[in-house]
Amino acid sequence: MSEATRNLSAEERDRRVLDLYEQVAEVERRLIPVGLHVFGRAPEAGDCADLLFMVASFDRPELGTRALTDLASEGLGLGPYSDLLDGRSEASLKQRETVDAAVRAAVSTFLARGEGEACKQLQEAARVPPGESGRVFKLLGRIREQLSTNEELDGLACALRGEYVEPGPGADLVQNPSILPTGRNTHAVNPYAVPSHAAYARADAVVRALLERHRSAHGRYPRALALVLWGLDNIKTQGEGVAQALWLLGMAPRRDALGRVTEVEPIPLEKLGRPRIDVVMTVSGIFRDLFGATMMLLDKAVRRAASLDEPPEANYVRANVLAQAEADSCDFDDAALRVFSNAPGSYGTNVNFMVLDSQWEQPEALGDLFVARKCFAYGRGPGGRSLEGREARREMGRALSRVEAAYQNVDSFEIGITDVDHYFEYLGGVSKAVEREANAKPAVYLSDAVSREARVRSLEEMVRLETRAKTLNPKWYEGMLGHGYRGVAEIESHVTNTFGWSATADAVDDWVYTEVARTFVLDEEMLGRLRDLNPHSARSLVGRLLEAEGRGFWEPDAGTVERLREIFNVLEDRIEGVA
Ligand code: BEZ
Ligand code: MG
Repeated sequence: MSEATRNLSAEERDRRVLDLYEQVAEVERRLIPVGLHVFGRAPEAGDCADLLFMVASFDRPELGTRALTDLASEGLGLGPYSDLLDGRSEASLKQRETVDAAVRAAVSTFLARGEGEACKQLQEAARVPPGESGRVFKLLGRIREQLSTNEELDGLACALRGEYVEPGPGADLVQNPSILPTGRNTHAVNPYAVPSHAAYARADAVVRALLERHRSAHGRYPRALALVLWGLDNIKTQGEGVAQALWLLGMAPRRDALGRVTEVEPIPLEKLGRPRIDVVMTVSGIFRDLFGATMMLLDKAVRRAASLDEPPEANYVRANVLAQAEADSCDFDDAALRVFSNAPGSYGTNVNFMVLDSQWEQPEALGDLFVARKCFAYGRGPGGRSLEGREARREMGRALSRVEAAYQNVDSFEIGITDVDHYFEYLGGVSKAVEREANAKPAVYLSDAVSREARVRSLEEMVRLETRAKTLNPKWYEGMLGHGYRGVAEIESHVTNTFGWSATADAVDDWVYTEVARTFVLDEEMLGRLRDLNPHSARSLVGRLLEAEGRGFWEPDAGTVERLREIFNVLEDRIEGVA
């Protein structure tokens, strides 16, 4: 026992153990993709159990089904399941495990012996009425059947022949099971339907959690927040990110007689119960192309908020816009620009490419590149004229100079912040730009659109969770290695995307690199597997670790660095055919 823990009270020690236990359970519960999707191939039956458990854990009023976890929790006399999720006591953790175990067992029984047996089991174990559980198992049965009949290759062949391909919605399977069967022509949403009623309702809790999280760590709400909005994510969630922007500003969508969202109206401050937060939005090129009307709506929401006759301490949007107009001797319209994207016809921040190709010397270069690519303003300017992507570098810099927190909603279980380079190019990129403009690092947060709890995590926590649940998890990397050459490339890509979070936000703990080195490079057997399957990616992975050390993101001991250099040279010789 260390000196630090010896002096703790028994109560404090229990609390810390419980906290640790909760973190381990979180890694264990997290749904991770095992292996890559192979186009045209249906998943194995065994891969479905975790997915079906997750599908069964959500209420689906549109289908008339309730979450099995809620039904079991109520049946066992434990009240609503959601109360067990944020329970911080040993008792509530145990109760949640009991409920989860009962539902998981019933899903296994369903997969092995069908609906009737599963209903019976859940009735006996948790007094769930078979009428209720039967509806859920019917849904699970439909999903299982649709997953096993894969029509992707037929769909592709049809499209290539120029024939009709049936349309279907695009989303995460847990969020919307009607995306099945796959292999259809994925369609988007009507931008005027965004945000949906459900997305707007859900965003309230997430924004509350975000602001409270920041307040508990920093003593007050952020005066301004940088928000990243992507197109596909807002399609999948029917505008959850858009709804979060509106809640932050304290604005509600107003629908016309046809149900189209065309206006916004302020939520009264008494009802909001907190200040209106200034929001600087960076929208992707895809969002700009798909959600033109929504960009106008968001711009309108900012201008409405800034025009309200409210005290500065209750309306940070107005306070910041007026301060900016005065300091820069500019007019209200320019000081209120908050919706930024690429120039028309251009996409992406290129921050990812600069990081992947190691093409930067000073850290500021990454933030400067972000602003150079993303400083084109959308909405309406002076006289109500559409801005259509007017370059506004100075205005974006000024808006970012007041930002204290950056945030993005993660829309899917399938793609997380180390799976692709786009999260660090956007959220990391804007964080670096704020660091430059505000002379202070913003706090960076993420939330999961698909989790039951409106849980907001810091970027550092999210990097740790992704590292434990994926990169260092044998279930994940063995699944990848099953794909041979491509699997090694995926592992290397996760390490590089993690490195991207060091480069843009200094958000990676030393142990992450140490454990990556230990698991994939210093373990001879594993190194041999990577080398034989894909020597190029193996070399890049070792090179990235050395770069992390060289740039000061990781401080391993001298012996480790020496060993990594040797291994790098051996891999290089082998690739060049000299060894
Ligand atoms: C988008 O959906 O907007 C998006 C997709 C991939 C990368 C960046 C943005
Ligand atoms: Mg996505």
